[in-house]
Amino acid sequence: NELYAVVGHPISHSKSPRIHSLFASETGEPVEYTAIQAPLDDFTGTVEHFFERGGKGLNVTVPFKEQAWHLAGHRTVRAQKAGAANTLYLDQEGVLVADNTDGVGLVRDLCRNHGVRLADARVLVLGAGGAVRGVLGPLLAEQPASLTIANRTVIKAEALVDLFAEDAGTTRLEACGFEQPEAAFDVIINGTSASLQGDLPPLRDSVIGPDTVVYDMMYSLTTTTFNQWALDHGATTVFDGLGMLVEQAAESFQAWRGVRPQTAPVIHELRTD
Ligand code: ATR
Repeated sequence: NELYAVVGHPISHSKSPRIHSLFASETGEPVEYTAIQAPLDDFTGTVEHFFERGGKGLNVTVPFKEQAWHLAGHRTVRAQKAGAANTLYLDQEGVLVADNTDGVGLVRDLCRNHGVRLADARVLVLGAGGAVRGVLGPLLAEQPASLTIANRTVIKAEALVDLFAEDAGTTRLEACGFEQPEAAFDVIINGTSASLQGDLPPLRDSVIGPDTVVYDMMYSLTTTTFNQWALDHGATTVFDGLGMLVEQAAESFQAWRGVRPQTAPVIHELRTD
């Protein structure tokens, strides 16, 4: 079997080993996938050691995605813009390649699995950290009518607007604070980590209309804090990030193996665990 792993700190709760094992059985690919907890001060050593002993590919998670990006000798276009990498492998010449599959994972889950149309939609993205930067490119590629980035620290949202202006095409790309938007959006995507502190972004209730689709990039076995807030304020369609997690994994698996696994059975299996 060929060796793959996810590296993070902490790592024990990662679902990636289970997801990739399911992909391996489904496709028959000779993939063995483990979890590695890197010391906070030695991500680089951990990666080097993994590839020196013959490892084929890594997923990278919190808090090492930016370090993975810096470490690589080559970055895919989508990783370059994301400023962070969740996927590493060696190319033919042995150069460490960084890819980022989070954004395609989100768009696949939204559009393909849930049938949400982003083209011409009015989209509100909450947050302006690494997670949001990682998904803006693929979201803009769907050509929404507008994409509003709202963040607690507005200058960080403004910096993302500057960075992605060249990718916006005809999409109206704008930055603001949480309290500013008033009219209902077609799609609201939560990319903040506010709920980890038990907080909610202080949005106006009016941003949620009866047809608003709400997507929390977080996932949990029960309804996420953000999605519960949305349901309490009139949303009828809410999704969490489990599908995104499985879709980004499938995209990494394809980058490594050249084979695309089916995701629906895996999403179903994780959901019913
Ligand atoms: P990540 O990799 O999860 O994106 P990050 O880069 O630290 O992590 O970004 C965290 C995001 O969640 C930021 O948008 C942050 O807002 P600030 O830019 O104002 O810091 C947001 N966030 C974190 N805690 C929050 C809270 N309690 N309320 C609102 N937003 C919060």
